[in-house]
Amino acid sequence: MRNLKKPLKELMEGWLLFKMKDLSLHILDIAENSIKSGAKKVLIKLIESKDILTLVIEDDGKGMDEETMKKALSPFFSTKKTSKYGLGLPLLKQACEATGGNLHLESELGKGTKVTAIFYKNHIDMKPLGDISATLISLQSAQPDIEIEFDYEEK
Ligand SMILES: Nc1ncnc2c1ncn2[C@@H]1O[C@H](COP(=O)(O)OP(=O)(O)O)[C@@H](O)[C@H]1O
Ligand SMILES: [Mg+2]
Repeated sequence: MRNLKKPLKELMEGWLLFKMKDLSLHILDIAENSIKSGAKKVLIKLIESKDILTLVIEDDGKGMDEETMKKALSPFFSTKKTSKYGLGLPLLKQACEATGGNLHLESELGKGTKVTAIFYKNHIDMKPLGDISATLISLQSAQPDIEIEFDYEEK
């Protein structure tokens, strides 16, 4: 039998993208990266303007070196031992690029990480927000010692 690794990985990627039905699920996934990185504080911010919705998730965790940061956006890259799939960032990237937007990653070792996802919110492929409130509550309840901050700004 031919090697099925590539088609099965593609299937997994497509399936997980399909399952990420709304932004709240992406937020949960990206905030979990922050928590895994040892952050004490995670800021989740939505900035809305006429055409654009910007999602910022910023943490004060262990950060990434340059090499890790470069790889972090490619599918199936993970430094986690008890890993999921290494698809958290790539799926968010796909979700915003599907609307014509893009994703920026800033990170400094020992300082923290900032993920900025830009969505064109009126694009047909824009996902719904989902239940962000429930996401925040479940994140904060699961991690009472981490300060989860949420902010909304209209520009
Ligand atoms: N906030 C963060 N702080 C430090 N490293 C991160 C952060 N987010 C992502 N990374 C790095 O990028 C990798 C890929 O992240 P992701 O695509 O979400 O996959 P996974 O979480 O399954 O490993 C992580 O394994 C980690 O090395
Ligand atoms: Mg992840």
